Amino acid sequence: MNIIRAKDYEDMSRKAANILAARIILKPDCVLGLATGSTPLGVYARLIDKYNRGDLDFSRVSTVNLDEYRGLPEDNAQSYHYFMRYNLFRHINIRPDHTFVPDGMEPDGALACQAHEDTIRKLGGIDLQLLGLGNNGHIGFNEPGPVFEKETHPVDLAESTIRANARFFERIEQVPTQAYTMGIGTIMRARQILLIVNGSGKADIVARAFWGPVTPQVPASILQMHPDVTLVADEEALAEAPL
Ligand code: F6R
Repeated sequence: MNIIRAKDYEDMSRKAANILAARIILKPDCVLGLATGSTPLGVYARLIDKYNRGDLDFSRVSTVNLDEYRGLPEDNAQSYHYFMRYNLFRHINIRPDHTFVPDGMEPDGALACQAHEDTIRKLGGIDLQLLGLGNNGHIGFNEPGPVFEKETHPVDLAESTIRANARFFERIEQVPTQAYTMGIGTIMRARQILLIVNGSGKADIVARAFWGPVTPQVPASILQMHPDVTLVADEEALAEAPL
């Protein structure tokens, strides 16, 4: 594992954006796996910046997202479709038909999840998967549990995830309780993984995920087995790592 220590959130965002930018420059038709949540916002802002300065061209890039809430329409401001459009896609020259987020409005979970797997396979797999880290060690919405779920699948969100995500909603009751998420196998098949994490609130889970035992109780711990993982973390998030 390659660990890149960043000073703070800004520095983490800059370093991670540079890694993504390098991938796009070296492989203009690359397939990027993308994440939502608070952590990648600074990365996306910097990618937009690079695009505006003429340093990046997204015209041949494809993207696949990790997850989507079940039952939120695309125009709901809390849906991940909306998040991606608002925070990245509408600011760059990516083709809308090159962007893929699981279809949260497909009520048949098996169908929606199989379609997402098929999309990834047709694209030739993910070149670089960007990940955030949940407070409970989840990646995508792969919550702690007895086994690593392999493929894209419907999931009941953990109570702690619903509480964490309530900050984006007016009331906690509005947070969807289910989502469709890439599985651990889907994520592990990405050729390169870039995990970004910041803040003291995640110091404990960073230490457990990357220096603790590999266990489905800490889903991100499986990344220890991936041959090409880069962790970009700020000082606060690395505070409890045995470095
Ligand atoms: C988002 C996702 C989640 C988040 C994680 C961290 O698509 O799959 O795993 O990356 O919950 O979220 P933030 O960045 O908001 O702390």
